[in-house]
Amino acid sequence: MKQERTITFHEYSSLSEMSQMDKLLIEAAHNAAQHAYAPYSKFKVGAAVLLANGKTVTGSNQENAAYPSGLCAERVALFSANSQYPEVGLKTLAICAISNNELTQQPVTPCGACRQVMLETEMRFKQPYKVILYGKGKIIVIESVHELLPLAFDDSFLK
Ligand code: THU
Repeated sequence: MKQERTITFHEYSSLSEMSQMDKLLIEAAHNAAQHAYAPYSKFKVGAAVLLANGKTVTGSNQENAAYPSGLCAERVALFSANSQYPEVGLKTLAICAISNNELTQQPVTPCGACRQVMLETEMRFKQPYKVILYGKGKIIVIESVHELLPLAFDDSFLK
């Protein structure tokens, strides 16, 4: 039997279409990207998390001469948020990237490992959160991490 999964997302063409809160979070992700440590890829990613308590926590990619020891911006931000506020769920996660000293035209999309961590955070707090993938020419908004990771592995397999 052939099965299909579709994903639902919203596309915007400019920041002016976003709410003030979302604009501020994208700005926070942009600021974070400027503090990335990416001497090897020169691809600087920033992530900003808006928590249910109104706090914003940011992260940027942290690379290492031993390449696999580095970590993506999304996981730096999420692990930081979850370690500082272990009881507080997320409202929104915004991600952007700087390449050749400019924000990328295309929205940056999280890697598989980050999607897995993003999903864990969503399931942990039993609350879907919005994901904003920012690009200068296109902004993608997803209502739940489930959209980004069909047929995901989660804690239900461990029971
Ligand atoms: N990177 C992120 O931080 N987030 C993404 O969504 C994609 C990739 C980082 C990992 C590495 O430091 C650099 O970008 C190039 O892959």
